[in-house]
Amino acid sequence: MALLRLIYFSVLFGLCFAADPFANFDLELSYITVSPLGVPQQVIAVNGKFPGPTLNVTTNYNVVVNVKNKLDENLLITWSGVQMRRVSWQDGVLGTNCPIPPKWNWTYQFQVKDQIGSFFYFPSLNFQRAAGGFGPFIITNRNIIPLPFNTPDGDIVIMIGDWYTQNHTALRTALDNGKDLGMPDGVLINGKGPYRYNTTLVPDGIDYETINVEPGKTYRIRVHNVGVSTCLNFRIQSHNLLLAETEGHYTMQQNYTSLDIYVGQSYSFLVTMDQNASSDYYMVASPRFVNQSLWQRVTGVGILHYSNSKGKASGPLPDPPNDAYDTSYAINQAMSIRQNGSASGARPNPQGSFHYGSINVTDTFVLRSMPPVVIDGKLRATFNGISFVNPDTPIRLADKFNVKGAYKLDFPSRPLTGPPPNGQISH
Ligand SMILES: *[C@@H]1O[C@H](CO)[C@@H](O)[C@H](O)[C@H]1NC(C)=O
Ligand SMILES: *[C@@H]1O[C@H](CO)[C@@H](O)[C@H](O)[C@H]1NC(C)=O
Ligand SMILES: *[C@@H]1O[C@H](CO)[C@@H](O)[C@H](O)[C@H]1NC(C)=O
Ligand SMILES: *[C@@H]1O[C@H](CO)[C@@H](O)[C@H](O)[C@H]1NC(C)=O
Ligand SMILES: *[C@@H]1O[C@H](CO)[C@@H](O)[C@H](O)[C@H]1NC(C)=O
Ligand SMILES: *[C@@H]1O[C@H](CO)[C@@H](O)[C@H](O)[C@H]1NC(C)=O
Ligand SMILES: *[C@@H]1O[C@H](CO)[C@@H](O)[C@H](O)[C@H]1NC(C)=O
Ligand SMILES: *[C@@H]1O[C@H](CO)[C@@H](O)[C@H](O)[C@H]1NC(C)=O
Ligand SMILES: *[C@@H]1O[C@H](CO)[C@@H](O)[C@H](O)[C@H]1NC(C)=O
Repeated sequence: MALLRLIYFSVLFGLCFAADPFANFDLELSYITVSPLGVPQQVIAVNGKFPGPTLNVTTNYNVVVNVKNKLDENLLITWSGVQMRRVSWQDGVLGTNCPIPPKWNWTYQFQVKDQIGSFFYFPSLNFQRAAGGFGPFIITNRNIIPLPFNTPDGDIVIMIGDWYTQNHTALRTALDNGKDLGMPDGVLINGKGPYRYNTTLVPDGIDYETINVEPGKTYRIRVHNVGVSTCLNFRIQSHNLLLAETEGHYTMQQNYTSLDIYVGQSYSFLVTMDQNASSDYYMVASPRFVNQSLWQRVTGVGILHYSNSKGKASGPLPDPPNDAYDTSYAINQAMSIRQNGSASGARPNPQGSFHYGSINVTDTFVLRSMPPVVIDGKLRATFNGISFVNPDTPIRLADKFNVKGAYKLDFPSRPLTGPPPNGQISH
C-alpha cells in the first residue's frame, strides 16, 4: 500500500513538474491566385496553402509560432477562442500587439494551459480574413485524460464560409465608403466552390471538396465558420451529426440533422458512416435567415464519398430548416447545446475560482449602439456616440510599459443625449 502510494505520488508530482513540451510552427502568409468560384482572384495563403495548415497540439504544450508577413500590408494572427493565459499580448489583435509590418516576422509564444478543443487562427487586421489566411487550431487531450467518447476512426476538418470574388482591399474600400457588402458570391468548403449539383446554378469546371471515408467508421468532423458575415446551416445528407464539442468544451452528446453555425463558431461532430453507399452524399452549408430563392447561388456543397460508393450524388440537396421568418427554431437549437460538466479534458477555471460576488462595483456604464455614422469619410459603428480607434501604442503594452497618454479614459458612462451621434473618435 505504502509503495503504491509512493509510486502514485511520484507519478503525480512527475506530471506536475515535468517541463511541458514545445510545439514549433512556421507560418508564412503570402498572396496566391486561385479561382474557387471560377473567377481568378487574389487570396491569402499560409505556407502556400488555402486554407492554411492545421496546427495540432496537446493540452499544456508551449506553442511557438513564427509568423512571416509576405503581404503588402500590416498583419496580425489571432487564435479565436484559445485563451492567452497570462500572455494577453500574444493575442494578435491591435489592442494588445503591434502589427507585423510587411517583410517582417514575429514569433508568438503561449501555453495552451488546461485547454482542449477545436479552434482556428486567422488574420485580425484590414479585413484580410475575407481573403483567407485562416487555418485550424486543434488542442487534443493529454493521453492520460480519456475522451468522453470512443476514440474516433479519423479526424476531419471542414472550414465553411461566405465568399466574395472581389479581393479584400476592394471589399474594405466598399465598407469604408458606407456600402453594404451585399450578397456573397458563394460559400466555400475548405477553400473550394460547390459541387455541380445543379447545372443551372453551378458553372462547369469548379473544384469541389471531397471527404473520403470508410463504411462503418465514426469520424470526428470539426466544422468552423470562417466567413465574414453569414450564418450557415451545416448538414450531411442522410447522416446524423452527433455534437460532441464546441470551442473548448465537451457538450452533452446530441444528434442534429443540421446545425446553424454562426460566423466564428467551431463545432465537433461524431459522424458514423452508417448508410448503404448507394451513392455519394452531399455536405451542405447554406445561408440562414435570408430569402432562399434569392440566395440559392450562395450555397456550399461538398461530397462525402464512401470507399464502396456506387455512384455520384444527384438529386436535390437535403432541405434546410424551413423557418426563415421564425427565429424560435434557431434560438431553441442554440439553447439545446449544453456543456457536459462531468466530461474530462481541461479542468474548469484552473487558475483558482474568482469570487465574483465579492468584487465591489466601482463604475457602471450604460452602452447604447446606434446605426453606423460617417467619421473622417469612413462608415463607423459607435457606442454612446463614440467610435473606437486603436492607439499607436497598443493599450495592453501601454499599461505594461507605463506609456502615459497612449489612451484616454473619458468614455461617457451614459449615452450622450441630444442630437444623434456626432462622430467623435476616442482612443
Ligand atoms: C492531432 O494529433 C493527434 C495526436 O497527437 C492525432 O491523434 C490527431 O489525429 C491529430 N489530428 C489532426 C486533425 O491532425
Ligand atoms: C524571425 O525569423 C527568424 C528565423 O526565420 C528567427 O530566428 C527570428 O527570431 C524571428 N524574429 C522574430 C522577431 O520573431
Ligand atoms: C458526459 O461525459 C461523461 C464522462 O466522460 C460521459 O460518460 C457521458 O456519456 C457524457 N454525457 C453526454 C450526455 O454526452
Ligand atoms: C483588388 O481589386 C481591385 C478592384 O477590383 C483591383 O483594382 C485590384 O487590382 C485588385 N488587386 C489585386 C491584387 O488583385
Ligand atoms: C436547378 O435550379 C434551377 C433554379 O433554381 C431550378 O429551376 C431547376 O429546377 C434546378 N434543376 C434541377 C435539376 O433541380
Ligand atoms: C444518434 O444517432 C445515431 C444514428 O445515427 C444513433 O445510433 C445514436 O444512438 C444517436 N445518439 C443519441 C445520443 O441520440
Ligand atoms: C439505401 O438507402 C436509401 C436511404 O438512404 C434507400 O432509399 C435505398 O433504397 C437503399 N438502397 C439499398 C440498395 O439498400
Ligand atoms: C423571395 O424572393 C423571391 C424572388 O425575388 C420573391 O418572389 C419572394 O417574394 C421573396 N420572398 C419573401 C418572403 O420576401
Ligand atoms: C469591498 O469593499 C468592502 C468594504 O469597503 C471591503 O471590506 C472589501 O475588502 C472589498 N472587496 C474587495 C474584493 O475589494
